[in-house]
Amino acid sequence: MEYTTLGRTGTTVSQLCFGTWRFGRETGGVVETDREQAHALLDAAWDHGINFIDTANVYGTPNGTSERFIGEWLDDHDREDVVIASKVYFPFDGRGEPGPNDSGLGRKHVRAQIEGTLERLGTDYLDLYYIHRWDEETPIEETLRTLTDLVREGKVHHLGASTMAAWQLTKALWKSDANGLERFDVTQPLFHAGYRDDITDYLDVCADQDLAVCPYSPLAGGFLTGKYERADEDDPTAFEGPHGARGSLDDRFEDYYLSERGWRVLDEIRSVADELDATPAQVSLRWLIEQQSVTCVPIVGARTVDQLQENVGAVDLSLSDEQFDRIVDARYDESGARWGHRS
Ligand SMILES: NC(=O)c1ccc[n+]([C@@H]2O[C@H](COP(=O)([O-])OP(=O)(O)OC[C@H]3O[C@@H](n4cnc5c(N)ncnc54)[C@H](OP(=O)(O)O)[C@@H]3O)[C@@H](O)[C@H]2O)c1
Repeated sequence: MEYTTLGRTGTTVSQLCFGTWRFGRETGGVVETDREQAHALLDAAWDHGINFIDTANVYGTPNGTSERFIGEWLDDHDREDVVIASKVYFPFDGRGEPGPNDSGLGRKHVRAQIEGTLERLGTDYLDLYYIHRWDEETPIEETLRTLTDLVREGKVHHLGASTMAAWQLTKALWKSDANGLERFDVTQPLFHAGYRDDITDYLDVCADQDLAVCPYSPLAGGFLTGKYERADEDDPTAFEGPHGARGSLDDRFEDYYLSERGWRVLDEIRSVADELDATPAQVSLRWLIEQQSVTCVPIVGARTVDQLQENVGAVDLSLSDEQFDRIVDARYDESGARWGHRS
């Protein structure tokens, strides 16, 4: 495993983070990753040198199950060896039906949630605490003041921001600086080679401010592994794929991850993978790790140990400039417009 410094923090993490979104999650009455499988995956990640784990208070059925599985696994490990990130924002159902203050980024909810998160993980601090989304209802100053208190109390080491517009991220950083508050050091956007939206402005903010970028769904939920085939030339959302994979389980799969451009990018990734005797999953992850302007640490979300083993191979790969650029070029419109630009 290779290690990198997480943006401007002093924290050293593996080049891949391990994501635990599907731990204990019930889809159609089936638990996707049960406790035993979750621990086998964490063991495999650990054995491969991954020291960075991503979770959230709302992961699992009921919410909190993912954090609980990780906490049980941590009982047999030294907490100081592991970098743990969790998140807050979404309605939390872990205590039953969520009440009016069981969501968002207000002081009351954040302070209650950090206590539950620390308890389930069996730790007295988080290395990284993300806001999972932007909260339209709560002034960002209130959230930043609350998070700053958590840092100063030692409950959280660094702050992160997931899934927001470039202007929101910029505003939050400005509010921190203007008010002497802790600032976000790490971001977590949806970003992968086949992503249909352009997040160039967002990445420019991260580069300028030296914020680490930890992309989620770096394999587009499995689409960029190449295990799905296009089923209709006129409809990019029509696909065939293995039974039991996310594409067959999750209704939102095609809306989230499939697009005309996505298939074009996948073709290029497959061609680069052939040249390198690698797999499309490895090339897709490597393309993220090799981003030039930011420290980029993809959050891989394998469901099986074999998948994880394959994905970790991305660390030993190297793309030539020409191979990297071919994937970038496939992200452009035929007109030359940037990915996702509507003008
Ligand atoms: N901040 C946020 O809002 C947010 C949102 C989503 C996720 N996340 C974080 O990001 C992490 C990763 O997200 P993700 O699960 O969507 O990531 P992903 O890497 O895009 O997709 C992972 C899925 O792809 C399939 N897969 C992975 N490697 C494979 C391989 N080598 N061969 C074949 N199939 C493979 C598996 O699903 P199947 O086997 O079922 O096909 C696996 O569960 C999450 O665990 C979570 O920590 C954050």
